[in-house]
Amino acid sequence: VKEKTLAMIKPDGVEGEYADVIKKTILDSGFEIAHEIELQLNEDTAKNFYAEHSSKSFFPSLVQYMTSGKVVIMVLEKENAISDWRALIGPTDANTAKETHPTSIRALCGVDTGRNCVHGSDSPQSAAREISFFFDKSTSDVSQRHD
Ligand code: CMP
Repeated sequence: VKEKTLAMIKPDGVEGEYADVIKKTILDSGFEIAHEIELQLNEDTAKNFYAEHSSKSFFPSLVQYMTSGKVVIMVLEKENAISDWRALIGPTDANTAKETHPTSIRALCGVDTGRNCVHGSDSPQSAAREISFFFDKSTSDVSQRHD
């Protein structure tokens, strides 16, 4: 089944100039990049996007990190896009990724559990929520509230 998922290159990935190699990996792996935007998240947007983690101890540092520079947000499309993109990025902890998934994207450009370079939706429910969070379904344009 063709699926869509939300992928994000986080601030350290953009700053470290990994965006092009990550996009090449995405295309070489058979994904279509259906939509793409580059923007800097403000605090409210980052807090809303990560609302499910709001009670966690790492939430303030997560928000700080995610607002520290520009991010690239993409809608990726392919069969099994959600789980295939999660497999391609590797484990949340970039140090684990380097040990157990050395060809993963997080092994390439992640630093640790917090600064892990890329994001991927973890389920069909979160993919739907995250795509409509950033993109207007009817027009494919960026939804105004996040410009
Ligand atoms: P992501 O997959 O984007 O979704 C939630 C994010 O929270 C995760 O990547 C990490 O960046 C961050 N995160 C998850 N667990 C921890 C943790 N234990 N310490 C710091 N950051 C975390």
